[in-house]
Amino acid sequence: MPHLVSPEDFPVAQEYVYLNAAAIALVPEVVAEATLSWQRGIGMQGTVHLDEDAEAKVFDTLRQAAARLLGAQPEEIACASNASELLCSLAWGLGPGPESNVVSASVEFPSVVYPWLRVAALTGCDVRLTRDPDYIIDPDELIGLVDDQTVAVCLSHVQYLTGQRLDLAALAEVTHGHGAILIVDATQSAGAMPIDVIADDIDVLLTSGYKWLCGPLGSAVLFVRRELHEKLEPGMVGWRSTDQVGIDFDSRHIDWAPAARRFEFGTIAYGGTVGLATAIDYLMGIGIEQIHDHNMALAHRLVDGLTKLGAELVSPYPDRLDSSIVTVRFPGQDHVRLARRLFDERVVVSPRMGSLRIAPHLYNTADDIDRALASLSALLGQAED
Ligand SMILES: Cc1ncc(COP(=O)(O)O)c(C=O)c1O
Repeated sequence: MPHLVSPEDFPVAQEYVYLNAAAIALVPEVVAEATLSWQRGIGMQGTVHLDEDAEAKVFDTLRQAAARLLGAQPEEIACASNASELLCSLAWGLGPGPESNVVSASVEFPSVVYPWLRVAALTGCDVRLTRDPDYIIDPDELIGLVDDQTVAVCLSHVQYLTGQRLDLAALAEVTHGHGAILIVDATQSAGAMPIDVIADDIDVLLTSGYKWLCGPLGSAVLFVRRELHEKLEPGMVGWRSTDQVGIDFDSRHIDWAPAARRFEFGTIAYGGTVGLATAIDYLMGIGIEQIHDHNMALAHRLVDGLTKLGAELVSPYPDRLDSSIVTVRFPGQDHVRLARRLFDERVVVSPRMGSLRIAPHLYNTADDIDRALASLSALLGQAED
């Protein structure tokens, strides 16, 4: 299996078997360089480095890169710092009332559900969650929760814990059939698999930059389909929310920017914004489809080896493997300890909810998988002694 990237692009992947993209992915050298030189320039030179045109260009460049990645238009993209703030802004902006409901899942990442629970505490709206026995969402149960009082269906494309992937087009059809909007958190899928917001008829999609997109911490993007620009008012608001960004302000009323960028509200870490645009270019230069094929081949190799070691799969399998997030349980093992001992062997994975989450990405090789399996086998053997 050939290398997908130049090993020099990811020096840490030469020192560690780094299988932790579902937590924080490694950043290519070119992205680290772009991010740090921007931060340094702004930090040391203030407006000598960053005039209004340079500031606008930072945002435009990321909007264009993210639009290419998602099959959207640049005016449908907003730049942000993280996924959680975007989800909060959407929840407060939609502000579902006492007769309304929002649909999500119990097993979801907290940031996908908490904003709705917080709004519900104030408005009394109903937050409906699937039950998710064994951490797996049943699509039929999910669809059954949506009705004509549903304002939004808010879910991750790929689940952070199990790697389960939802069928977005099917979900959009049901959601729209009840007049609601579909909000997708693509933090665990963007950069790892192709996404087409038009083909899947998605209303709103957001992703943080530091996982599968290989961007820096403190960077994120939001897609809002054009038809919703006038309808969706952000819950978080500030001087960047209007079209008067720059020299003349008017604080008496909010003239929302007539585009997704109305969800931008203040300064952000501009180095991160530049870095995320660079990362998207880097990934698209390799090809998202190629990255997906590469990652899935590694994930299957991993599952084969883990199964031979006696692992129970928490991820949906054997019927299918939805993503390259592979989560397994070894009965009787302390998984926090196991992850720590793997780290001592220079194998980096995450312990999560009584299991190990292993997440290979473009910088990994078949040799990495074999080394991780060999370390695990040795540790499990010792544990039995
Ligand atoms: C689905 C999902 N959304 C969001 C986040 C984190 O978002 P933020 O950008 O706010 O750190 C994670 C982190 O694990 C995640 O898995």
